[in-house]
Amino acid sequence: MSDKTATPASSVLDRVLVLELVRVTEAAAVAASKLIGRGDEKAADHAAVEGMRKAFDELYIDGTVVIGEGERDEAPMLYIGEKVGGAPGKGPKIDIALDPLEGTTITAKAGPNALAVLAAAEKGCLLNAPDVYMDKLAVGPGYPEGIIDLAKTPSENVKAVAEAKGVQPNEIIVCVLDRPRHADLIAELRELGCGIQLIPDGDVAGVIAVTDPDTTVDIYMGQGGAPEGVLAAAALRCVGGQFNGRLVFRNDDEKARARKWGIDDLNRIYKLEDLAKGDCIFAATGVTDGSLLDGVKRLRGGKMTTESVVMRASSGTVRWVRGEHRTN
Ligand code: FBP
Repeated sequence: MSDKTATPASSVLDRVLVLELVRVTEAAAVAASKLIGRGDEKAADHAAVEGMRKAFDELYIDGTVVIGEGERDEAPMLYIGEKVGGAPGKGPKIDIALDPLEGTTITAKAGPNALAVLAAAEKGCLLNAPDVYMDKLAVGPGYPEGIIDLAKTPSENVKAVAEAKGVQPNEIIVCVLDRPRHADLIAELRELGCGIQLIPDGDVAGVIAVTDPDTTVDIYMGQGGAPEGVLAAAALRCVGGQFNGRLVFRNDDEKARARKWGIDDLNRIYKLEDLAKGDCIFAATGVTDGSLLDGVKRLRGGKMTTESVVMRASSGTVRWVRGEHRTN
């Protein structure tokens, strides 16, 4: 349900084999899967980063990481500004937002919804979001434009969505990260009688869940990572839906980081096109089973399976890719 007139297909992204991006998320997911349930978040993340980094070398792109594992001094690999791809100076110039392991704690505990995820777009089309929190509000496709508004209260947003859906507010299901900082939000939603799906981690999958009628989630609300907000926005650009995001700063250092990335209006409410504009591609592979994708499965006989999705904004095409791989 993407608006084809508003999002022309990009010839730069045309030259990237869209399906090739799935190999990159597959590689990260397979690498991380060896650490599922091993109680070691860092090792799982490290394995995913290494797997993803290597797979990028196979792609004929001149890529730049715009959302990655951190700033150069914090992350040895896939840091913001790092060049990736096998064709520096020759291939199409692509900006990449990535999270090799979205859900490090989930993976360590063998919980649901850990993903390897990335978004790719033409240079300058993805918001260079600093690693701060973001207030997020999202609904799936089919609602009038502007139905949700972060400037309004959670109750006002729930009531607006309920009215448009033709149900009572107490029939609305809201997905929220289970965090103490959401106590007031949860109390307000309880007051309305909403169903609340509390997730332990993994708000990229949480936001995308609003686009899938099978999940029964109507609205996503609450604070999570800003980089994850850009990744989720890229997915919603492809499959439809609405998103509002506002950066949340806890101190002056975080504000300074944002200014460094060219963000001057610190209170701005970002919509989908502000976070991921033009044509973009979103790819994800499940690490553990979840609402969006099955996780990596190691089978008898030296085989394993992966499940991935790759979507493109200009065409609205969503491809589900099931991979069978040899383990040796
Ligand atoms: P990690 O993969 O870095 O562990 O992130 C998981 C996650 O739950 C994200 O999905 C979410 O945006 C963020 O952490 C929330 O941050 P916090 O755990 O600080 O509340």
